[in-house]
Amino acid sequence: MMKKLGLSVLLLGVALVAAWNFVAIPGSNSWSAEELQLINSLSIERLAPLPADPSNRVADLPAAAEFGHRLFFDTRLSGNGSIACATCHRPELMFTDAFQMAMGAAPGPRHTPSLVGLSHSPWYYWDGRKDSQWAQALAPLEAAIEHGIDRLQVARLIDSDSSYRQMYNALFGALPVIPATPLAASPLGDEREQINWNSLSGAQQNEVSRVFANLGKAIAAYERKLMPGAARFDAYARSIAASSELDQGDILSSNELAGLRLFIGKAQCVSCHNGPLFTNHEFHNTGVLSIAGQLPSMGRYDGIRTARSDPFNCLGEFSDAEQADCIELRFARDDNSLVGAQKTPTLRNVSWTAPYMHGGQLATLAAVLNHYNEAPLSMLSHNEAKPLALRPVERRQLEAFIRTLSAPLATEPKWLAPAVEFTQSN
Ligand code: HEC
Ligand code: HEC
Repeated sequence: MMKKLGLSVLLLGVALVAAWNFVAIPGSNSWSAEELQLINSLSIERLAPLPADPSNRVADLPAAAEFGHRLFFDTRLSGNGSIACATCHRPELMFTDAFQMAMGAAPGPRHTPSLVGLSHSPWYYWDGRKDSQWAQALAPLEAAIEHGIDRLQVARLIDSDSSYRQMYNALFGALPVIPATPLAASPLGDEREQINWNSLSGAQQNEVSRVFANLGKAIAAYERKLMPGAARFDAYARSIAASSELDQGDILSSNELAGLRLFIGKAQCVSCHNGPLFTNHEFHNTGVLSIAGQLPSMGRYDGIRTARSDPFNCLGEFSDAEQADCIELRFARDDNSLVGAQKTPTLRNVSWTAPYMHGGQLATLAAVLNHYNEAPLSMLSHNEAKPLALRPVERRQLEAFIRTLSAPLATEPKWLAPAVEFTQSN
């Protein structure tokens, strides 16, 4: 996928230093050719079209997004009838929840990340333990602390709701006969659910799991609609790309510009937060303090191993991909450098999604910048980021710059609220 783009842009930039030249920016700043390239590479206008997902043949079908939209907001997809994906991924909070740790059927062990622009990522979860967005969508449904339901009851809900059944049939072919008993069954559930699961025939198990996987594919089709909008930073990037020196002056303040200069220079944020989504889609150890009461997270080191053994991965029987399509999964690194590494999150809209990091350990952007400034030793393995020795004013400038990355989504409003037909079903 596009994850090497940021690096190649950096290298291109380095090559361009030879042709060093400066463009005067009224009011505050001038940029080298290398810096101009870098700034341009961060602009939302450089965002590539969404990569195809060969493992999900309905990923780009409008009817699948409509179906997924309904499922995303449906609290009936939970054991206690009150939890939907949107309970934790709230549209008005850029699909986060403002909690330190997620709160589903019970408190969870991780902080809820944003879903905006996420379909550009080849890996899902902080530790990358899922290799597609549809496979990811299945996990919270069966997690006791999240939706707390099981795949048999989910399949039965689709069967019993005539509108869902029609949507399903139109996309995936006729829904198979869903066993009427036992009540709840899943290979991942508690002991009783597992015993129930084993009481089904192999063919029944396969059919129920396929229905379940298909629902994940519809949800993923919906999530592909959630895209960031152009922010103040992008207006600035556009204006300097066009070299229209006349109207650059007021787009960013001198503090914000100083923050941008630090971001792409001395503070080295851009070495991981690069490209139009401000993420390299890779995994890094940044020395974030372990979550209180938990062992330090092994991060991607464990995540890639989990992804490889997931029956819903790109190579599995429920994937629509050919083996040759599963490059990311087949060739992913799994070495010791990934111990304690988490996925680099996007910085778009990040000023609206506090608290921060995989355990919500840092409450504010100022705390995040203090963290990077100090670059503490990692509890596990080593912190890849180095201490920055930034003065307080520089940290404030960096924060001011990061705040220029927030903007309303470039997503049709209808996707940001429950579907209108939602209130009535059956
Ligand atoms: C109880 C709150 C909760 C519910 C309900 C929930 N999520 Fe999440 N979601 C989280 C948390 C917490 C994480 C991060 C977990 C981790 O990385 O270990 C997450 C991660 C994700 C990710 C990966 C984000 C990334 O950066 O890679 C996606 C996609 C996602 N959720 C979609 C969904 C969908 C779709 C549903 C409904 C089927 C759902 N979530 C239900 C809390 C929730
Ligand atoms: C070595 C790669 C790397 C560098 C350099 C880096 N980051 Fe990060 N950043 C990450 C990773 C990985 C995370 C998630 C860490 C975690 O959750 O434990 C993160 C998280 C963040 C978050 C929290 C986002 C959220 O949604 O929780 C912010 C804000 C942030 N970084 C800003 C910066 C700034 C500003 C700089 C420069 C001072 C910077 N980063 C440098 C990799 C990096």
